[in-house]
Amino acid sequence: MGLYENAHEAMSWLTSKVPSQPEVALILGSGLGALADELTDRVVLDYKDIPHFPVSGVEGHAGKLVCGNLAGRYVVVMQGRVHYYEGWTPEEVTFPVRVLGLWGIRNILITNAAGGINPDFMPGDLMMIHDHINLMGYNPLRGENDERFGTRFPDMSDAYHHEMRALIVRAARELNLPLKTGVYIGVPGPSYESPAEIRAFATMGADAVGMSTVPETIVANHMGMRVAGISCISNLAAGISKHKLDHEEVKATADLVRETFSSLVRKFVELLDTP
Ligand code: HPA
Repeated sequence: MGLYENAHEAMSWLTSKVPSQPEVALILGSGLGALADELTDRVVLDYKDIPHFPVSGVEGHAGKLVCGNLAGRYVVVMQGRVHYYEGWTPEEVTFPVRVLGLWGIRNILITNAAGGINPDFMPGDLMMIHDHINLMGYNPLRGENDERFGTRFPDMSDAYHHEMRALIVRAARELNLPLKTGVYIGVPGPSYESPAEIRAFATMGADAVGMSTVPETIVANHMGMRVAGISCISNLAAGISKHKLDHEEVKATADLVRETFSSLVRKFVELLDTP
C-alpha cells in the first residue's frame, strides 16, 4: 500500500477512537511532553497501536498520542516523535503529520529542543521560529508527488504562518514572558555540530540548531496546514558553549522551562482563532 492509503488507514483508526476532531495539533519535543498530562477528558493512544505509526526509542520521547481539552479547545498532542538519525526514512519521520493533515487538522504547533547559536540566547530561552533552513540533507517531498496531499512545488515563503507567529508573540506578551525570535536550522544529527559548523550556520543566518521540525514543517505546508514553531533553547551550540554538549543538559533545561513553556503553549491554544 502507498503512503496515502497507510496515512488514511491510521486516520480512520484514530477517528474510531477519538470522540471529536481536534482543532489543533501540538508536537512536543525532547523533555517537553509534560503538557499532555494537563489535558482533561483524555484519550491516550500508544503510537505502537496506531496503524503504520513509527515508534521512537529515544529517551525523553514518550510515544503517545493524547487527545483532550486544553484551554477550552479540543487538541491532539504528539508526545514525542521519531527522528531521521534513528534510521527512519523521511517519509516515516513525517508520517504522523500526514495523518494529522488527513484528519482535517488545519493548525499545528511544532516544538523542539535546540542549541542556541545567536549570542544573545541563553539556555532556557524560548524562541518563536520565524523561518527555517533545511540542512537535513533531504526533502521529505522528494519522489512522485501525490496530488491528494498537495502540490508538486509548495511555497515556503510563509512556512511558519504569519498569523500563528503573531499569536505566539501575543501569547508571550499577555503572559509577560520574554520571547526570542529566530531562524531554526535543521540538521540530520545525531552527532552535535562542530564549532566550525556552528560558525558557518551563524553566517548563514541561523539562530538555533536542531535535529527535527523542518521535515514536519515542509509536509504540513504541503498539506496546507498553518504551522507555528517554538524552540526551547536547551544549550548553547558547540563552540559558543565553553563545555561539551550532552543530551543530559538538553533534558535538564527542558525540565527547567517546563512551566513557562507549558503556559506559553496553553495561552497560544487559548488565543487560536480557529475557523
Ligand atoms: N544541536 C543540535 N540539536 C540539538 C542541540 C544542539 O546543540 N540541542 C538540542 N538539540
